[in-house]
Amino acid sequence: MSNYHIKHLEEYYKVYRKSVREPELFWEEIAEEHFSWRKRWDKVLDWDFSKPEIKWFEGAKLNITENCIDRHLRTKGDQTAILFEPNNPADGPEHITYRDLHERVNKLANVLKSQGIKKGDRVCIYLPMIPELAVSLLACARIGAIHSVVFAGFSSSALASRINDSECKLVITSDGSYRGAKTIDLKGIVDEALETCVCTTHVLVVKRINSEINMKTGRDQWLAPLLENAPTECEPEVMDAEDPLFILYTSGSTGSPKGMVHTTAGYMVYTAYTFKNVFQYRPGDVYWCTADIGWITGHSYIVYGPLANGATTIMFEGVPSYPDFGRFWEIVEKHKVTQFYTAPTAIRALAKENLDYVNKYDLSSLKVLGSVGEPINEEAWHWYNDNIGKQKSPIVDSWWQTETGGIMISPLPYVTPTIPTYATLPFPGIQPALMDENGKELTENQVEGRLCIKFPWPSIARTIWGNHERYKDTYFSAYNDKYFTGDGALRDAVGYYRITGRVDDVIIVSGHNLGTAPIEDAINEHPAVAESAIVGYPHDVKGNALYGYITLKETGEGRDHDNLRKEINQLITDRIGPIAKLNKIQFTNGLPKTRSGKIMRRILRKIAGKDTGNLGDISTLLNPECVKEIMDEAL
Ligand code: WTA
Repeated sequence: MSNYHIKHLEEYYKVYRKSVREPELFWEEIAEEHFSWRKRWDKVLDWDFSKPEIKWFEGAKLNITENCIDRHLRTKGDQTAILFEPNNPADGPEHITYRDLHERVNKLANVLKSQGIKKGDRVCIYLPMIPELAVSLLACARIGAIHSVVFAGFSSSALASRINDSECKLVITSDGSYRGAKTIDLKGIVDEALETCVCTTHVLVVKRINSEINMKTGRDQWLAPLLENAPTECEPEVMDAEDPLFILYTSGSTGSPKGMVHTTAGYMVYTAYTFKNVFQYRPGDVYWCTADIGWITGHSYIVYGPLANGATTIMFEGVPSYPDFGRFWEIVEKHKVTQFYTAPTAIRALAKENLDYVNKYDLSSLKVLGSVGEPINEEAWHWYNDNIGKQKSPIVDSWWQTETGGIMISPLPYVTPTIPTYATLPFPGIQPALMDENGKELTENQVEGRLCIKFPWPSIARTIWGNHERYKDTYFSAYNDKYFTGDGALRDAVGYYRITGRVDDVIIVSGHNLGTAPIEDAINEHPAVAESAIVGYPHDVKGNALYGYITLKETGEGRDHDNLRKEINQLITDRIGPIAKLNKIQFTNGLPKTRSGKIMRRILRKIAGKDTGNLGDISTLLNPECVKEIMDEAL
């Protein structure tokens, strides 16, 4: 029996049981049957969560781009690999076949080599959602360079800290980007960032918006002329299974962003296998994930997973509101999209608009709808199901993380019966555990706890770049011998999982993970600010919005509060990016603290969420009097 494509529920349970009973055999069969290897592995799995050390397919040799491109050339050379839909509908679309993709990736790989980039070097990619972005990832992978994509909405200082952390030698960017009716000066942001990055000696610039930009002699070069002269064949670097493929930064609850390191073989096998099953992709389908490649969803389910299956994957440069709120549905009709994967925040934003924007278009090609990035609320689920899926396309509410590399808990469409807001069942190979406060596993059903994973899966991140201790502390120290996700979850009577949200200080705003600490650090840089605390509160489109409680220094008192709010949000925009701006700012005379001086965020969260019925015992606080004051003045 092939385990690769699961077609009904009974088969799922059978495959799942096998994946738990004989994990090595299970993954070995999948790896063997569906990928091309330069050399077979010596050992399927070697692991020790206490170190933590995880190795999959040790000894194997491969190149992921041979699996994502070359091996499809013979049968699918003329099939569209990437279907590019530009910001302005009149400028596209562009069909990039597997043959075109092969040529573009090989040429860019040769350009990178000509700039001195070698296996193991880090390359930062700061690009909008244009084909060069996907091509850049693959070109790095072709020559064994480690890509570090930074979402092109991050500010120059956020970009600089990521470039410096992994010491990127080269940056690939563009003169600018389109975002709806606006343009953004990406190159200017890169220039500013590089003022503090001595590690970066080369910058390659894609021409996208034809703006006037500064080119620094000796450092910056336009990419197009280099590509023109580059050879069209680049021998793929033969990589070890455990060689790093990429670094992708994600926010933690404290400290600087964590550079999660993903390695080659396990990541390839897992993203390909999950893509096939979670989307039930069949030849001829046109798959569209609306995420940005700057996030893990784009890495795994726009680029690597779909291409490893020889799929047609859409890359969309624009925004859902441009030229109008019908853009998504216009694209679905135009390209006869079969699988559509988006985030709850986008669904909620579009659900607010007139239904005519949806009903104008023929959505009958859709077979599967996906949701990712945060819990989907019931109302959004039904709107999606009724108006987009017309109650005939199953919704796959897929739970996973940057750290997990691929989808972990999700229905399989036409296989797993769905229930709104439930991510349902673990993917084969995934062994979830719910833990109580005392660190004991809750083994029965109908329980709620903290979500851990007990056994390694092929695409788990192997470390945090340059900081293995932090990797261990963050993910493997809370619960003995288990990977801790940072999420809470419940398991119902039949074993379905429902993710209830973060249990740490990460707040998900419009599907983006934001750690409170870096935002507070940015705010505290303001000369008038003494102290600050950020919490999330429910927001009908963003899921969560940010509420800041800020205590001013004496020098700040008497200052115009509206002005201060603007300055503080500007600081956050400069340090992190506009996605981290605060929706509400309340100036306070003090923040509630425990006797050991820790800010009691639990109380602040309740006040921000207007849920002050039961604040719990506040008498043990250092300064209980400030709670009433904060409540009285809450926004
Ligand atoms: C949350 C995104 C509920 C969760 C792929 C997780 C979800 C964090 C879901 C990871 C879902 C993601 N239901 N919550 N279907 N998907 N999350 O690293 O809190 O950007 O820990 O990866 O998003 O976000 P990240």
